[in-house]
Amino acid sequence: MKSPKRYTVTAALPYANGPVHIGHLAGCFIPADIYARFLRLSGKDVLFICGSDEHGVPITLKARNLGVTPQEVVDKYHEMMKQSFLDFGITFDYYSRTSSNIHRETAQEFFTDLYNKGEFSEKVTDQYYDEQEKTFLADRYIVGTCPNCGNENAYGDQCEKCGKSLSPADLINPMSKLSGNAPVKKSTKHWFLPLDKYQDEWLGAWVEAQKESWKSNVFGQCKSWLDQGLQPRAITRDLDWGVPVPLAGEEGKVLYVWFDAPIGYISASREWSEISGKDWKPYWQDEHSQLVHFIGKDNIVFHCLIFPSMLKAHGKFILPDNIPANEFLNLEGEKISTSKNWAVWLHEYLEDFPNRQDELRYVLTSIAPETKDSDFSWKDFQTRVNSELADILGNFVNRVMVLTHKYFEGKVPTSEFIPDREVENAATSIFEKLPELIHNYNFRQAQVEALNLARSGNKYLADAQPWKLNLETQREEIARVIAYSLDITARLSIALAPFIPNTSAKIRRMLNLSPEFIWNDLLTSHLPEGHNISHPEILFKKIEDTEIEIQLQKLEDSKAINIVPSKHNPVKEPITFDEFMKMDIRVGTILEAEKVEKADKLLKLKVDTGVDQRTVVSGIAEHFKPEDIIGEQVSVLLNLQPRKIRGIESNGMILMAEDSDGKLHFVKPGTAIQSGAEVR
Ligand code: 2FM
Ligand code: ZN
Repeated sequence: MKSPKRYTVTAALPYANGPVHIGHLAGCFIPADIYARFLRLSGKDVLFICGSDEHGVPITLKARNLGVTPQEVVDKYHEMMKQSFLDFGITFDYYSRTSSNIHRETAQEFFTDLYNKGEFSEKVTDQYYDEQEKTFLADRYIVGTCPNCGNENAYGDQCEKCGKSLSPADLINPMSKLSGNAPVKKSTKHWFLPLDKYQDEWLGAWVEAQKESWKSNVFGQCKSWLDQGLQPRAITRDLDWGVPVPLAGEEGKVLYVWFDAPIGYISASREWSEISGKDWKPYWQDEHSQLVHFIGKDNIVFHCLIFPSMLKAHGKFILPDNIPANEFLNLEGEKISTSKNWAVWLHEYLEDFPNRQDELRYVLTSIAPETKDSDFSWKDFQTRVNSELADILGNFVNRVMVLTHKYFEGKVPTSEFIPDREVENAATSIFEKLPELIHNYNFRQAQVEALNLARSGNKYLADAQPWKLNLETQREEIARVIAYSLDITARLSIALAPFIPNTSAKIRRMLNLSPEFIWNDLLTSHLPEGHNISHPEILFKKIEDTEIEIQLQKLEDSKAINIVPSKHNPVKEPITFDEFMKMDIRVGTILEAEKVEKADKLLKLKVDTGVDQRTVVSGIAEHFKPEDIIGEQVSVLLNLQPRKIRGIESNGMILMAEDSDGKLHFVKPGTAIQSGAEVR
């Protein structure tokens, strides 16, 4: 294969609706970073781009749940995510956000270009609409039963259980995520990308031609889409959050987030260009550039079919060369879930394991879900850190450093160079195999190769046992072993650099070597005689059992919180604090209870509210016998307007909680207190 002139590497823009977790890191950001680092190390010209995806329903839903504006949500998480990537050494050349002006401009120009070329079809269709919320229900605003697997909580754009891509019309028993109501149909105009036409014209053949180079999971998913026949895809939405459709008289319509987000790679490159003074265009428009998108498997269709269609229709852009999508990472055998707090958040990891980013990078690469879903467990994390990083790599480097100081005052001793066969084999294997493994996106195996040099170095030193030799009589042999081990250590700093960059930098500091180096130094790295090394630092502290127990307990706590009824109504519209304070809720004691005649569900209660004794009619007769609830303490809303129910005036409402079986329970104080105590 002809070597490209430059590489454009992208990592999927994460939604700015939550912090970054280990699933993000393992799925896309670490592999992309290893790839970019390796290319740079090999002297290649690389532009590595990412940014926050700040549009779409994931953002507006989060804002709604929190009772804040979408802008507040994206401002908060954009900063948080950017910091996490920085903390974990993800070396983006530029990290942007899709709410930037350049992005709006770029996305609108892109739309306009395709619009003017007549690429889109314009169609008025019936779409689901929430009459209460006065909103069209696209994507994740609507949920229902998946026609493919029967999952009752499938979204309007995808079923997360079986992975099938859906449109709202596919859902059985659709329900608005906003109001909980069944939607109605209402007609609206949108613009569609004719994927069916592209499939026939070129897309089908283009995907087919990638069979050998794309990962089989990626190719397979695309093939299955193509086999079903692509359909025109709406690329606009009726929403008030997003990039406005740049057509006069089309207010209230925005670009579909999956139309604008991938254009974000281009806008981020333009922004990078302004800052670096370098031209962004060759990275996107020169056919000698290689474009590689790192993504998770849920993004395959957008990067393999839709974005290439957009790029091709525009005409000026290159198409992706490869899209090495990873499968998913689970946590302790369960799917990572932001909403269930079933995740290891990077900012929390760093609080508990400060300065131990490389340990996580290493483990996540060791278990990367490259060909199938994989699992992160804290026990396995501990084992890998302790028995691989600390016992092999850390132990080897520390011994070499300490011995050099002990025997040779921290100077590389004069010695004869006698290479060890196993060590040299490991080094040659890395030099020859690692580039290929990395170019085939096989980062797991690449890291194993790199660590093999530490394994053979460790074995070499353990076999030679220079500490058992006599400095007086066997000085030459000791010098030979130490000098050679120091060379191995220098070579390790190169081989491991793409994977555990902080450790690589630390080793080079300890060896007093320049932080600048290239891949070819791997074979020639040789420390000159008399070279002074610095003092040893511990590379990896062992992870204690107690540290792991704390993490497991954290997850147990999340589980406990998550034991809730499976179906929830959506969170209601936010209210102000003043509105909340208008409610007068107090602890009351039930004094009398009797059935209301000819009403199966109603009980007439007499309640001591502390301020008075009043009658409340409550719909709890199917759940309680009157005689059983005399003396119960309950919460009563006192200032609800009096209502006549079955001829009886009811003055207030008893608060009840419904469990997953539909049974009602009183909401009551945890301990007996006086009637009239205010509930706040
Ligand atoms: O799945 C996601 O998190 C999306 N925000 C990925 C977008 S990738 C690209 F198109 F920008
Ligand atoms: Zn499904």
